[in-house]
Amino acid sequence: MNQPTKPLTPGETALIVGAGGKTGRRVAEQLSGKGVQVRAASRSGSTRFDWDDPSTWEPALRGADAAYVTYSPDLAVPEAPEAIREFARLAAAHDLGRVVLLSGRGEEEAQRCEEIFQGVRRDWTVVRSSWFNQNFDEGYFLPPLQQGTLALPAGDIAEPFIDVDDIADVAVAALTGAGHEGRIYEVTGPRLLTFADAVREIGAAAGRDLSFVQVPAEGYSREMEAQQVPEVIIGLTRYLFETVLDGRNAHVTDGVRRALGREPRDFADYAARAAATGIWAEQAARSAS
Ligand SMILES: NC(=O)c1ccc[n+]([C@@H]2O[C@H](COP(=O)([O-])OP(=O)(O)OC[C@H]3O[C@@H](n4cnc5c(N)ncnc54)[C@H](OP(=O)(O)O)[C@@H]3O)[C@@H](O)[C@H]2O)c1
Repeated sequence: MNQPTKPLTPGETALIVGAGGKTGRRVAEQLSGKGVQVRAASRSGSTRFDWDDPSTWEPALRGADAAYVTYSPDLAVPEAPEAIREFARLAAAHDLGRVVLLSGRGEEEAQRCEEIFQGVRRDWTVVRSSWFNQNFDEGYFLPPLQQGTLALPAGDIAEPFIDVDDIADVAVAALTGAGHEGRIYEVTGPRLLTFADAVREIGAAAGRDLSFVQVPAEGYSREMEAQQVPEVIIGLTRYLFETVLDGRNAHVTDGVRRALGREPRDFADYAARAAATGIWAEQAARSAS
């Protein structure tokens, strides 16, 4: 039986793997604000860390007290289970107390990685998330939206998109608070939206006539090939749209409430906030400003 872990406190060091990413950046900012020393790790981070180069893992872990871990590109890729097993083993050997792993909802392979992770230390925490709101303004969906049309191989299946600020809040609570040890928080937003719904709400917030178009998966993959998107990302994208987005995740969960005692942020609030930055303004309008 492991000793209970103590919460991360000011002056201690947290390793953030994927510190420049959508959730990692926010977790790093919140922890810095609490006086925690943040070790920002990724291939281009101030601490070099590459999931494809295990020799970078141990130096990044050395002397850290806790960690927030995002695996790239996704826990569903075949290399992930072995990487998570070895990383978790190293983290335990280096006596890390609190460790939080970000995972994806409805992905059998990711759930296998969660088991491997918590098999090393039962008291570590998993945040199993639905699709992020911020894919629309910080991720792959941004350039097409700026041009006016988002075309994806997605139909009428609804998804409870979540705000990554909620994910960061849950991760920080699990690292610094009490009562989160050994939990799996399956987190979603408060509302189901199809991609067409999401684009409609973004258009309304941005004051633009944006459209969503459903395209066949085959054609979408060929388009990505033409743009020289790496094969692993094309395969992953197909898996996410054709397998995971089949309705299995079309329900909301109470993970944010269980972790934080409050409701998750609504998509409309996210859309209003992001629209106010001008990120979805028409290309011409943005380059003129
Ligand atoms: N996006 C979603 O809707 C969603 C939903 C549920 C779960 N997730 C999970 O969230 C995680 C991150 O996804 P994201 O969309 O947030 O990505 P993201 O914002 O693009 O961030 C990826 C981060 O990981 C780093 N990275 C990329 N390749 C790496 C490698 N080989 N080794 C170490 N670091 C690497 C990147 O920095 P460098 O380029 O400097 O390495 C970056 O900091 C993934 O595990 C994904 O499955 C995402």
